[in-house]
Amino acid sequence: MARIVGGITTSHVPAIGGAIAKGLQNEPYWKPFFDGFGPVRQWLAEVKPDVAVVFYNDHGLNFFLDKMPTFAVGAAPEYRNADEGWGLATLAPMAGHPALSWHVIESLVGEEFDPVSCQEMLVDHALTLPMLLLWPDQRWPVKLLPICINTVQAPMPSARRCYKLGEAVARAVASWPGDEKVVVIGTGGLSHQLDGERAGFINKPFDLAFMRSLSDDPHWATRFSTRELVERAGTQGIELLMWLAARAALPGAVTQLHTSYHIPISNTASGLMLFDSQD
Ligand code: DHB
Ligand code: FE
Repeated sequence: MARIVGGITTSHVPAIGGAIAKGLQNEPYWKPFFDGFGPVRQWLAEVKPDVAVVFYNDHGLNFFLDKMPTFAVGAAPEYRNADEGWGLATLAPMAGHPALSWHVIESLVGEEFDPVSCQEMLVDHALTLPMLLLWPDQRWPVKLLPICINTVQAPMPSARRCYKLGEAVARAVASWPGDEKVVVIGTGGLSHQLDGERAGFINKPFDLAFMRSLSDDPHWATRFSTRELVERAGTQGIELLMWLAARAALPGAVTQLHTSYHIPISNTASGLMLFDSQD
């Protein structure tokens, strides 16, 4: 039986890719952010997961506003990024795990979720930058299973629904007969708003309460509607739904091993958490 061994939740911001390309990791602006990843990389080197299930939101690379699935699951043999307009480098292709992907898709549909299955899927900065932060040498030691949640066009799935999706993904992984170790990653947030009257909006008290809740009371964010979450976290801060789905996918006793929070990275309050999960 495959096992979920832990979870990582992190922000994603295109400017991170520019900083890596220019080698700015030790500049005062970037150092507190990049330093946060050391303990997480160390944990990955020790635990050596075989598969990464990544909850992320596509920003217009694979899905555009004309066709917007609420949930989409990658079932491709390989994933690549492409030009999104941010000037980000093309990364080494990432191997998929189609057999496990199809098992997860079948299990989700069996539980009355209706994901789009993607046998071809471009992955954008929301997925590639966290991968690059976790494995900077691009020799990806994990097979990738991307799960995309719409947070770019209304209507968006509720926090409750995303929590249930995470739980359903955990059940799907647990029922897979292989012996893979799986790390669950959620990328997005924390509070930020890129446009409109509140452009630049950041809500540190809310972010810290949300991060605390993932340890103490993981259902906490499910009490909020999408509108309430947007009010509190900003129009793009709603990406925190990825963190919620990832946290919900952690079975058994969950221990928080590492956390960092830093304002700002570009327009975003950036956060990072690492959880160990003992089933
Ligand atoms: C920024 C943040 C995001 O989540 C994103 O997808 C694009 C840009 C930013 O802060 O600049
Ligand atoms: Fe984003």
